[in-house]
Amino acid sequence: MRRALDLYTGNEEALRMRYESDISPTIISAKLKLVDSCNLKCFMCRYWTRKRTGDLNTEEVCRVLDGLAALKCKKVHFTGGEIFMRKDALFLMEYAHILGIRVTLTTNGTLLNKEKIKRLLRIPARSITLSIDGPHPKIHDTIRGQKNAFKKTLNTLTLLSKHKRRKNKIRINTVVNQRNHTYLPELAYLLQQFSIDSWLLIPMDAWEEKNKVPTLVDIKRYNTIVAPLLEEIVHLENFSPWIYGKTNGDLNSSAQQHYARSYYQKKPCFIPWFHVLVGPKGDIYPCCGTHRLIKPLGNIREQGIAELFNGEQYQQFRAQMRAKRLEQCHHCDDFLSENQALEVLREKIV
Ligand SMILES: C[S@@+](CC[C@H](N)C(=O)[O-])C[C@H]1O[C@@H](n2cnc3c(N)ncnc32)[C@H](O)[C@@H]1O
Ligand code: SF4
Ligand code: SF4
Repeated sequence: MRRALDLYTGNEEALRMRYESDISPTIISAKLKLVDSCNLKCFMCRYWTRKRTGDLNTEEVCRVLDGLAALKCKKVHFTGGEIFMRKDALFLMEYAHILGIRVTLTTNGTLLNKEKIKRLLRIPARSITLSIDGPHPKIHDTIRGQKNAFKKTLNTLTLLSKHKRRKNKIRINTVVNQRNHTYLPELAYLLQQFSIDSWLLIPMDAWEEKNKVPTLVDIKRYNTIVAPLLEEIVHLENFSPWIYGKTNGDLNSSAQQHYARSYYQKKPCFIPWFHVLVGPKGDIYPCCGTHRLIKPLGNIREQGIAELFNGEQYQQFRAQMRAKRLEQCHHCDDFLSENQALEVLREKIV
């Protein structure tokens, strides 16, 4: 999204006009959550409790991609659940690429073999994010709820690292939680053995498992011991270990899971004008942070994406977001750098 937004941000006046209107003529990026299920059982996630029945079929997803291309969408992120539970995952990514859309994805990496990996790299998938939550099976497999998950994901990382081409970026996501935060320096040393382009530490969002989110004591320990070590070990572009902030106020907010320190209570979110999320069964939402937490803004089985993106419900949503963000937004830390960059532009001209 950052790269895609960078392509947009040159035109300040256009940004102001877009934000002041309830209509948005183009989409910059989309997230397709195409599978309502998973082969792993991560303790911090609920996807594996869901059923795949009723997921969009190949033809329906192709129609969404056609609609996105018509709206000049520059990037589509494929995810789930676990996207490779779909037999047509690679075909859909290839189809998006043929339409001129940049393809990115997130996967747990356990369902890929050498042949699929080579096909994925050839598309070319521009950014492939693998989730790794610990430096060895004892931590990773416990978090991911599946024996051998670590071995399979590491095998995928090895193959990706070996066969990647100039256009493929390999990224790692790690959800920081009570079980793994002290093991992150060990994970940092492990990752140094591979050709990766970035490593994102994600503060865990609690669902029903509140007890495994780091407490204020954990966060203080992390900031005193783990983060400084990580800063020394990791030299990847844009890597930051300071996911909970640095001041006492930041740490207190993070212990309440206000990871963006309530940025969106005060400042706008431009995402409903630029981005769309399509859920496994065709429901559409403005973003991941609102997925299943608000009423969907329509379903692509009933109308095309272009009609929905500028339909009555979407227009009302934009008007409402301009006036006041939602309760969900106060916990959100998505698109923070993009929104901060856009707000700097908007403030320049108001
Ligand atoms: C929902 S998963 C879907 C993709 C794939 N199954 C995977 O695990 O990479 C997308 C990303 O969300 C992360 N994630 C899962 N549960 C989370 C939570 N409670 N808080 C923050 N991130 C979470 C995953 O680790 C993964 O990097
Ligand atoms: S592998 Fe991904 S989708 Fe599956 S349970 Fe874990 S985080 Fe959720
Ligand atoms: S949940 Fe986050 S990304 Fe979504 S509209 Fe609110 S602030 Fe924006």
